[in-house]
Amino acid sequence: MGSSVTPSNAPPPIRLTVNGCAHDVPAAPDTALLHVLRNDLELNGPKYGCGLGECGACTVLIDGVAARSCVIPVRAAQGRAVTTLEGLGTRQHPGPTQQAFIDCQAAQCGYCLNGMIMTVEALLRRDPCPTEQVLRSELHHNLCRCGTHVEIMQAALRAVQLRAARAAEDSPR
Ligand code: FES
Ligand code: FES
Repeated sequence: MGSSVTPSNAPPPIRLTVNGCAHDVPAAPDTALLHVLRNDLELNGPKYGCGLGECGACTVLIDGVAARSCVIPVRAAQGRAVTTLEGLGTRQHPGPTQQAFIDCQAAQCGYCLNGMIMTVEALLRRDPCPTEQVLRSELHHNLCRCGTHVEIMQAALRAVQLRAARAAEDSPR
């Protein structure tokens, strides 16, 4: 007899909180978080690049910290807050980091941009006023095959300005 999986012995669903919404997904616990986000939840902001944790295209935030979702099993994200690119803003109301990349038109093919934006976002959440050197160092391990690094750095610096401006607008007078 084979050992096929039947509904009665299937693993329990994995409960994920993504962009503030809870989801029960019928995924095997070792499935890469990236695949669950894209295939089960239809969140296509995070991209599949290398699948090895080396390029950064798949970056999401887990409890506010940048993480490479292609090498993180979905079970490791249970009980934690996952944020994807879609969780930073909308087309009508982009978040400040997203707006900075739009303003600077910091893309050629755009495939790396998810990772660039999420990495900058994670940095600015813990350090709202980083130096250019810190930004450069933070983005050092995010790869862009199109050579858009100059514009990406301009966008990262603009994100610092926009985030500060929004914080000033939001603070009580
Ligand atoms: S796809 Fe995850 S780091 Fe490259
Ligand atoms: S803009 Fe194409 S990989 Fe970065």
